[in-house]
Amino acid sequence: MKEYESAQLLNPNSLPEEGSGLEYSLRPKTLDEFIGQQKLKDNLKVFVEAAKRRREALDHCLFYSPPGLGKTTLAFIMAREMGVSLKTTSGPILERVGDLAAMLTDLSEGDVFFIDEIHRLNHIVEEALYPVMEDFNFYINTGRGPAATTVKLSIPRFTLIGATTRSGLLTGPLRDRFGIIGNLNFYETPELERIVVRSAQILNIEVEPSGVEEIARRSRGTPRIANRLLRRLRDFAEVQGRGVITQAIAQSALNALEVDPEGLDAMDRRLLAALIEKFRGGPVGIENLAIAVGEEIDSLTDVYEPYLIQSGFLQRTFRGRVATPKAYKHLRLELPAKPEDLF
Ligand SMILES: Nc1ncnc2c1ncn2[C@@H]1O[C@H](COP(=O)(O)OP(=O)(O)OP(=O)(O)O)[C@@H](O)[C@H]1O
Ligand SMILES: [Mg+2]
Repeated sequence: MKEYESAQLLNPNSLPEEGSGLEYSLRPKTLDEFIGQQKLKDNLKVFVEAAKRRREALDHCLFYSPPGLGKTTLAFIMAREMGVSLKTTSGPILERVGDLAAMLTDLSEGDVFFIDEIHRLNHIVEEALYPVMEDFNFYINTGRGPAATTVKLSIPRFTLIGATTRSGLLTGPLRDRFGIIGNLNFYETPELERIVVRSAQILNIEVEPSGVEEIARRSRGTPRIANRLLRRLRDFAEVQGRGVITQAIAQSALNALEVDPEGLDAMDRRLLAALIEKFRGGPVGIENLAIAVGEEIDSLTDVYEPYLIQSGFLQRTFRGRVATPKAYKHLRLELPAKPEDLF
């Protein structure tokens, strides 16, 4: 049997073996099938309906959230709800203005043009995108020196959907050109339970309700992780049980995989322990914390921190990262005597 590393298990980024096929089969296809994010969903329904009535392309949308919460899923759903096709690319792939031109000239009226990791567009391509987003004119420079000319291309009215895990890295001018900005939040346990039940049905996995709850609680508020745990636990259920994921199997498997009852993995705990033991609970700069745990700064800020902050283990203050009393308690470490030592 394959060895699973717990750090990978709770990594909200998509893993290679989860490739397009599996994620695709588990992806909700309509807004009604999309579980949770109710407020955002209600708004999107109105915008879709209004655009359809006016027979116009939907406004440009920007979706941002930590990884695995459903940005790509929503982009596909929006295209489907609008009844148009979707062309997809990503920030780092669009290296030159020519790459952008090739995509844009391939669009039909109303299409969705999806740019994943839009914060990674280089500034030349980004600036070429501004006029297209505004009035669907695309300017191409040809020739050099005195012979240089600018050709204006009219692009059919389309909808740009951008997705990013780092909305803070988006430039103001780009952000301002999106009519609809949607932030996806971590999911509540009952929502994750519904997601697990739905995925189990699709994958034909039998899970007892208490097993569903166990998975949902330990998924770091992230549907991608819930789906991943579900498939890993099926392995345990088949080898150690009768193929049914019971609460007992879920608990022992998750413990074996080092996912604790709060859904923290070995790396989360290492990070909190370093913060408390090496830096007296903080405040400490992210650079020092990254060195202490031997991780990249980006993966701390994108992958680990959002959930630790959301679930109240960590605070980000202007002086640096600080461990909360909840973190001390979870790691069974003693709180410093005076509260002022803590913050
Ligand atoms: N609201 C939801 N209801 C049901 N399943 C969901 C929902 N959101 C996400 N999922 C599941 O989680 C998986 C990951 O979602 P998705 O790929 O859309 O995340 P993402 O935000 O684009 O992540 P990344 O930042 O890594 O690109 C999908 O395959 C889908 O099955
Ligand atoms: Mg995505």
